[in-house]
Amino acid sequence: MQQKKAKLRVGILFGGKSGEHEVSVTSALSIFQALDKEKYEVTLVGIDKTGRWLLPEQAHVLAHQKNPRLLKLNEVRETVGFLPFPAEKNLVPFEGGKLNAGSASQFDVVFPVLHGTNGEDGTMQGLLELANVAYVGSGVLGSSVGMDKDVSKRLFRDAGIPVVPYLMLHRHEYRASQEMAIEEAQRKFGYPYFVKPANLGSSVGVGKVKNKTDAIAKIEDAFQYDTKILIEQAIDARELECAVLGNHQPEASVVGEIIPLHEFYSYEAKYIDAQGADLRIPAENLSREIEERVRTLAVQGFKALECSGLARVDFFLDRKTGKIFLNEINTIPGFTSISMYPKLWEATGMPYSKLLDRLIHLALERFEEKRGLKTTYESQ
Ligand SMILES: Nc1ncnc2c1ncn2[C@@H]1O[C@H](COP(=O)(O)OP(=O)(O)O)[C@@H](O)[C@H]1O
Ligand SMILES: [Mg+2]
Repeated sequence: MQQKKAKLRVGILFGGKSGEHEVSVTSALSIFQALDKEKYEVTLVGIDKTGRWLLPEQAHVLAHQKNPRLLKLNEVRETVGFLPFPAEKNLVPFEGGKLNAGSASQFDVVFPVLHGTNGEDGTMQGLLELANVAYVGSGVLGSSVGMDKDVSKRLFRDAGIPVVPYLMLHRHEYRASQEMAIEEAQRKFGYPYFVKPANLGSSVGVGKVKNKTDAIAKIEDAFQYDTKILIEQAIDARELECAVLGNHQPEASVVGEIIPLHEFYSYEAKYIDAQGADLRIPAENLSREIEERVRTLAVQGFKALECSGLARVDFFLDRKTGKIFLNEINTIPGFTSISMYPKLWEATGMPYSKLLDRLIHLALERFEEKRGLKTTYESQ
């Protein structure tokens, strides 16, 4: 009789103490449903909005599954802690006052479906490195530079990738010379211009500044979310997005377009207003030349930040000049079955569940590659 192959144990980390908590929960649910249960034994590990880790029961993982607005983690088991436990080569749950090594909740691969701070910015990836477990997506470096809009732009520029002209401003400098900073921004970019926190997402703290009074209010607002902000030339642009997948030989999907129906692609347009934006997959009326350029730049951007696994790379196409700028990279993009990233791959010929197989394979490939490295130096 043929021995049945052991299933790969996959842990989905989701939720999180972030403005994108709900998107993450919806993404995790889509992933959970689409993973082939013949191949994978899937455990959901939720992080609630206060930062507590939970092991929700599989049978009723989430409350209000049918209503995205009410969707939330179902607190059906006691809170657990997870500790990196390199001896077990894993994250080990800490339950009822003791480490529960050998518990079912150990993983061959972890899929962090967390957006923003403490999930997408390298901190969670650091924990997973310490735990010595394979995980989907970029490592510590790619995740943290991908999160920082200022550092990532410096690396893009260094790689010859065009970025929108900007000024970087630290809060302590701004406090010392507010008038000068506002004058410099006006001199360089005129009105309107954009302000945004360096390390955030979902358009939180992003503002379009139209005059000096507006500048003070919106700069202050952005500084509520980060101690470093960007002041950026406003581009009248089409917003194009491209999905990248792979490790050493990353590939680019077809190009999609976001058409915000608000003044810009704000938090409200993204999450509050169901008709806030149209997604076009693929983008229409785009020359072959521009599409190819976007795809090439997407892969170059991915490599410039040393990303691995996946990333969605977002662009501006200037309506007047036809110039393309790389706006930002998202190392853990929205992953619901109707999100841009999986939809772009579907349009490129890779269905959702195959995409998940591929991401898990890439995570294991990267883990194996690193495992072969020496960790001690032996002098000759
Ligand atoms: N320089 C800019 N010119 C024109 N629109 C911009 C600019 N910067 C940001 N925006 C608008 O704000 C949205 C959010 O900004 P983005 O830099 O993508 O931050 P986030 O990481 O929050 O998505 C963009 O999708 C776009 O609609
Ligand atoms: Mg964006």
